Amino acid sequence: MQEIINTDEIKSAIDQAVKDIKSSATLREMKMKFLGKTGEIAALMKKIRELPPEERPATGKIINALREWAEQRFDECEAAVKQAELGERYLREKIDVTLPGKKRKKGAFHPDTLIVDELVSVFSGMGFEIYEGREIETDYYNFTALNTPKDHPARDMQDTFYLGGDFLLRTQTSAGQVHVMENKKPPIKILSPGKVYRPDDDATHSPMFSQMEGLVVDKGITLCDLKGMLDEFARKIFGSGVKTRLRPSYFPFTEPSVEVDVSCFECGGKGCKLCKGTGWIEVLGAGMVNRAVLENCGIDPDEYTGFAFGMGIERIAMLKYGINNMKLLFEGDVRFSKQFRE
Ligand code: DAH
Repeated sequence: MQEIINTDEIKSAIDQAVKDIKSSATLREMKMKFLGKTGEIAALMKKIRELPPEERPATGKIINALREWAEQRFDECEAAVKQAELGERYLREKIDVTLPGKKRKKGAFHPDTLIVDELVSVFSGMGFEIYEGREIETDYYNFTALNTPKDHPARDMQDTFYLGGDFLLRTQTSAGQVHVMENKKPPIKILSPGKVYRPDDDATHSPMFSQMEGLVVDKGITLCDLKGMLDEFARKIFGSGVKTRLRPSYFPFTEPSVEVDVSCFECGGKGCKLCKGTGWIEVLGAGMVNRAVLENCGIDPDEYTGFAFGMGIERIAMLKYGINNMKLLFEGDVRFSKQFRE
């Protein structure tokens, strides 16, 4: 019997193993080696069958006691290993909460965005809805429906990026007017800000720039309504003392057409560098919607009339913020943009 179950030997092997164990992985390995189904203690148990029957119960007890003892040793070892590993992890993941955080740089609103936001707020106060048109248009919406058919001399006023087929990059937010009138019965009162494109690139032109279009169509709309609305717009955007004046002009989609000036907000109209001594600054184009345009959109010009206006956002931004070089608006330098938030 002594020979078959030499518990002393196993015990000292387990003692040694437990001493050497430094990680959960070796702990698992050693547990398998001694306590696993095919481990050394299980092997001893199997040998019991080789003993004479009367010796078996006593030997079984000895082996069971050995198993319990071994389980206890490994449990103690597991507790110690876990504690040690947790300590190491705490050390590894230690965070120094006194270190300064990483600073995120703040951006700034582009002057165009500030102007558009301000215009939207002024005009929505007057009951205008926002319509966001599309930048890719067809020739029809950008020109023909706006009373500018092919070969019309007014097409020369706006160089165009043609995209192939009938498509082009819109040269004016006016194209949106046609979509609105096609889809909605009057009363119509919309404001449409957006990007437009023309192949010009010099000190005062960029191939991409921004416009803001306005359109009002209803029964009995007159040029007086346009003038009243423009006065309100000029006071809100450029200052309470600012006046407007209308000068005759030409656009194919309006009749009559006007250029709108505001009295110089820099010198109060006396004449200065900004207004080139005239006392007036041109800010936008406008007019009464041409009968032909209303007809093209399925609106009866004998029943309804309307006015429209269109302005360049960069121009308004430059005037309002005193920016003297348009290129600054297209460089995307945040230090530049940071100056204009009021
Ligand atoms: N679309 C014109 C342009 O880009 C601006 C304009 C003028 C718009 C008169 C209008 C208008 O709605 O009535 O030059």
